[in-house]
Amino acid sequence: MDVTVAADRAALVKARDSLGPGRIALVPTMGALHEGHRSLVRLAREHADHVVVSVFVNPLQFGPHEDFSRYPRTFDADLRVCEEEGAGVVFAPSAEDMYLPDRQVEVSAGGMGGTAEGAFRPGHFDGVLTVVLKLFNLVRPDVAVFGQKDAQQLALIRRMTADLDVPVSIVAAPTVREPDGLALSSRNRYLSEDDRRTALALSRALSAGAARARTGPAGVLDAARAVLEEAARFDPPLLLDYLILADPATFAPVGGDHRGEAVLAVAAKVGTTRLIDNMVLTL
Ligand code: PAF
Repeated sequence: MDVTVAADRAALVKARDSLGPGRIALVPTMGALHEGHRSLVRLAREHADHVVVSVFVNPLQFGPHEDFSRYPRTFDADLRVCEEEGAGVVFAPSAEDMYLPDRQVEVSAGGMGGTAEGAFRPGHFDGVLTVVLKLFNLVRPDVAVFGQKDAQQLALIRRMTADLDVPVSIVAAPTVREPDGLALSSRNRYLSEDDRRTALALSRALSAGAARARTGPAGVLDAARAVLEEAARFDPPLLLDYLILADPATFAPVGGDHRGEAVLAVAAKVGTTRLIDNMVLTL
């Protein structure tokens, strides 16, 4: 199947309108597509007749000292992935086309955007929600698919669609992992062999926490923290940003007597690479 590439918003609207009848699913990405993204496109195809994939490294969601300029850009390979997985349209605009030079209005992620990941990346979720809302308005999808790997982003997108009455159903796709447990991420390609060995502590910490789910929040956090503390002594060391056991819908930390679902989420630096991971547990 041939995929149509829309390089600007006008071309996207035209391509979208020529898709024909049926449901449309959107898979927003920043490119550097891997097996995890393939799984998003496959899931999107289960929910719709046509799939639009956006490939856009969104400058609004990067802080001034983050990896925007070195973020991997692999458009030709991304296009092949989209084609192989049966996407109908790939939207790959420039930043100049996406954002008007005199733009003023942005989406605010509110208090929920300032906790956990948001506390370490001020403004990040405002940038994510702004681009996602623009993509929703341009593509007008029935459904949009996001990875569970970015659990707080997923929760905030759900919050935005509820708070702003955005008529798009949000579908979560399970995190895809390497056989050794490392969650797939476009940033994994920054990792050296030694970095990668240290990075495995993230998924090991989550599994150690999950194994203690029946003992309650303190047991989960203690077990996960022990693995992360050990990895802080590796070479290179794991530098922890946060470990949190949170309500999956609000990302507020759960209380000590919490029972039911909770998301155990972790973020850490290994060398120059910052990684995140999470697992949803039932306590
Ligand atoms: O998860 C991502 O890749 C990005 O945050 C998204 C949703 C494509 C917005 O730029």
